[in-house]
Amino acid sequence: MKFFIDTADVDQIREALAMGMCDGVTTNPSLVAKTGKSFKQIIDEIVSLVPGPVSLEVTTVTYDEMMTQARELAAYGDNVVVKLPLTPAGLKACQTCYQEGIATNVTLCFSPSQALLAAKAGATYISPFVGRLDDVSTEGMNLINDIVTIYQNYEFETQVLVASIRHPQHVVDAALMGAHVCTMPNKVLNQLAKHPLTDIGLERFMEDWKKVPS
Ligand code: E4P
Repeated sequence: MKFFIDTADVDQIREALAMGMCDGVTTNPSLVAKTGKSFKQIIDEIVSLVPGPVSLEVTTVTYDEMMTQARELAAYGDNVVVKLPLTPAGLKACQTCYQEGIATNVTLCFSPSQALLAAKAGATYISPFVGRLDDVSTEGMNLINDIVTIYQNYEFETQVLVASIRHPQHVVDAALMGAHVCTMPNKVLNQLAKHPLTDIGLERFMEDWKKVPS
């Protein structure tokens, strides 16, 4: 399973890279806004820093404007993945990108039917948002199970990129279901490493080590 870091914060990306846990990065307009930097500055920094795929989202809703932005974003580097919304115009742009060899991440997916359309449109990645489904009392991980099954049934090449991850169990469940990628904030990445018995065990080893004669 690949781990992407869901952030536009370069320091967080560096931290995850240093641990060998950053196979790629996903951003969105809200994450870019949080940094206080311009989109261009963010793109320049992240695309050169990260060897893996970097998802950059279009910021318009019409097909023509999406295609203009998609071509501009793709020109920043071979590792750029253009993020498109799961709308009819976004699917049309996805199909054009597919024909032009531009990698895509179709975002804001909340149903299996939407995921089926994205795969047929030639998406490189589909981003189902599990946390936002949980927020409205719907089991987000059921959507991942459905998409993995549908894609396997028809051998679609679109990769399932589990997004809107809120806690470590989302990642574990996604791995058990066979999702290709999880994108997560650094906080969840660090939580994955945590276990109280590890902390207690380490403390005991450190204490006992002090008793060993030098
Ligand atoms: C995915 O690419 C999105 O950027 C992200 O996972 C959304 O997460 P949120 O629901 O926590 O905002």
